[in-house]
Amino acid sequence: MKSQLLDGKNLAARLRQKMKEQVGKMQPKPGLGVVLVGDNPASKVYVEGKIRACEDVGIVSKKILLGKDASESEVIAAVEEMNQDKQVHGFIVQLPLPEQIDEHLIIDSILSFKDADGFSAVNVGNMFMGRGVLLPATPKGIIRLLLDAQIPLKGKRAVVLGRSNIVGKPISFLLQQQDCTVTMCHSKTENLKNITKEADILVVAIGKPRFVTKDMVKKGAVVVDVGMHRLEDGTLCGDVDFEKVKKKCSWITPVPGGVGPMTIAMLLENSIECFYLQNR
Ligand code: GUN
Repeated sequence: MKSQLLDGKNLAARLRQKMKEQVGKMQPKPGLGVVLVGDNPASKVYVEGKIRACEDVGIVSKKILLGKDASESEVIAAVEEMNQDKQVHGFIVQLPLPEQIDEHLIIDSILSFKDADGFSAVNVGNMFMGRGVLLPATPKGIIRLLLDAQIPLKGKRAVVLGRSNIVGKPISFLLQQQDCTVTMCHSKTENLKNITKEADILVVAIGKPRFVTKDMVKKGAVVVDVGMHRLEDGTLCGDVDFEKVKKKCSWITPVPGGVGPMTIAMLLENSIECFYLQNR
């Protein structure tokens, strides 16, 4: 079976072009803030990508960088600065944070209408009640990618591998909203292969390089890979053994060029949404 690529890079470029035209007509321009704490190499790359994407579509960006030894009160002060800044309509605090910082405390101090990541309790609660405001970027991007490819979701069996607040939990819920029957699995799930083999849609966000092998996937399944790992030889790979699995499934996201660019496009979309929440 030859699979088709779920091309996030292409869809993200189309969405960015539309946003560029939209932002071109907006005055003042929407602004996105990013708080980065510490020197996690992956986070630095992600943040640079987000800032570059803002520049591309004409969204004003503001960055606050703090060292890896920053205190909780310094991070809260950065969040407060973003909360108060009239040019910043939405902002994010890049995760993970250094271990001395309580992530919940930081997220709780972000104003919910400026929460471009949709991570605050208010926005998570709204999502669970089916209100589509400020949805988290990665799961929102995955749904958009599936809908754009016109992949049937209604009544299908979806299996989500991973239960993080950023991806696993929200994508499970959003797939259920699309009328999928969803099973959530994680690192402690017993007989994992028996469950993943039943998936029509398999979303993998387990954080382990090439964890999902061909024998775990049903023939003709749709496979979405949220992982991103740099191997010792410098190459990038996801949580799925792409080369082998692609021969068995109907659709698959590449890494890179699948979910990653969609996350960034949805973050830009959320920044514009934050702008309108404050300028109605
Ligand atoms: N770390 C990994 N993904 C994300 C994301 O979508 N938002 C933030 N803030 N941090 C992340």
